[in-house]
Amino acid sequence: MKKYIAEPFRIKMVETIKMTTREEREKYIAEANYNTFSLRSSDVYIDLTTDSGTNAMSSAQWEGIMRGDEAYAGGRSYFNLIAAAQDIFGHKYIQPVHQGRAAEKVLFELLLKEGMYSISNMHFDTTRAHVELAGGRALDCVVKEALDIADRSPFKGNMDVEKLEKLINEYGKEKIGVVIMTITNNTAGGQPVSVENIKQTSEVCKKYGIPFCLDAARFAENAYFIKKREKGYENKSIKEIVTEVFSYAQMFTMSAKKDAIVNMGGLLGIKDDEDLFIQCKARTISFEGFTTYGGMSGRDIEALAVGLYEGLDEDYLEYRIGQIEYLAARLDEAGIAYQAPAGGHGIFVDAAAMFPHIPYYEFPGQALTVELYKEAGIRVCDIGSYMLGNDPDTKEQLKADFEFTRFAIPRRVYTQAHIDVMADALIAIKARAKDVKGYRITWEPPILRHFQAKLEPLK
Ligand code: F0G
Repeated sequence: MKKYIAEPFRIKMVETIKMTTREEREKYIAEANYNTFSLRSSDVYIDLTTDSGTNAMSSAQWEGIMRGDEAYAGGRSYFNLIAAAQDIFGHKYIQPVHQGRAAEKVLFELLLKEGMYSISNMHFDTTRAHVELAGGRALDCVVKEALDIADRSPFKGNMDVEKLEKLINEYGKEKIGVVIMTITNNTAGGQPVSVENIKQTSEVCKKYGIPFCLDAARFAENAYFIKKREKGYENKSIKEIVTEVFSYAQMFTMSAKKDAIVNMGGLLGIKDDEDLFIQCKARTISFEGFTTYGGMSGRDIEALAVGLYEGLDEDYLEYRIGQIEYLAARLDEAGIAYQAPAGGHGIFVDAAAMFPHIPYYEFPGQALTVELYKEAGIRVCDIGSYMLGNDPDTKEQLKADFEFTRFAIPRRVYTQAHIDVMADALIAIKARAKDVKGYRITWEPPILRHFQAKLEPLK
């Protein structure tokens, strides 16, 4: 059995969470029309909806909150953030924005026009949405190992570089506005990308003159996997690895709500293209606010400047990834399938394997989501056909590559005992899996339906 790595911190402040009875939870989930996004968080015991913005800040970050400079222009906190980001990422131009998708909105319309394409190892939903809003189309190009959940390759998040070059030639290099590398690869299960793969991808981009952008929400977790798994990096510091990774990209967008361990924030980085940066600044002023606050308050900027360094701490990362590997080891012991090996920010359980009798159009990932809430008050989310939705032309339900139920683990929030509650709940559900029924949608909005749809259990 894998040992749980003890927390490298002690707890100074606590937030009470409600223990509910199964009877109460049955009522709450029915009232929420079997959609966990419609639950009140006060009725949730362990909330694993996302690892984004749900992190616990340190006493040093709270100190920063008090120091935050709320000046409209030229605030002290802004300069602290720029210095930290330049130091860690090595890009000359840094623009704060309020979260990751804001960076996407500011940048992508400058790179993509109607009829153009972006190619990524895998686009996150908002990234895909901003590519499409800019008039482009998003093409995913992940290595084939990612599609086999039992394949324990070390870098299942990688770009398929051969296919990338084929796609560029097929569509024409002038039609590819940007190549985006998502680190870690969230949609594939928080799987890492190697330095070698990032380097090769950047060389292909250079060869064809296509901008190379990192979607770097989980840059520190990715660097930790590189240190543990890639030859030649075992003796480098996490910061050195991060700086090297960013040196291969001309630009990056970042949701700072993940690895910078804050509740709100984002960054846009441009390595050295001053003209592009000037255009980004103009767009930031229209969409986000003046360039020295970019949609954030000064206190949030200060907490982010501190959090960028805390996220690189190796003891913290060992505990962080260790916590998820501990959960994975308990699932291995119980014969519960998930996207293996464990990802950086959570576990993606294979709900189709748990419920082989529930077809994709009856949403096995959502069935497991509802069961986890009923069983133990745990809130997770479906990353499968329920989330994917319908074909925009035929209106037919699409079949996803995977029927995942995602356990996204907030940073520094839950303890070993909570992780055991998660494993025990899954084991209990597995024991009665054959009695679990699928779901039917009774109402859905036209886009991003999973956030708002209403469902009912099938008889
Ligand atoms: N890119 C990736 C890889 C992400 O995972 C996210 C957000 C974003 C961009 C957008 O950032 O939310 O700050 O605007 N992912 C969250 C999640 C929401 O639950 O995986 P944002």
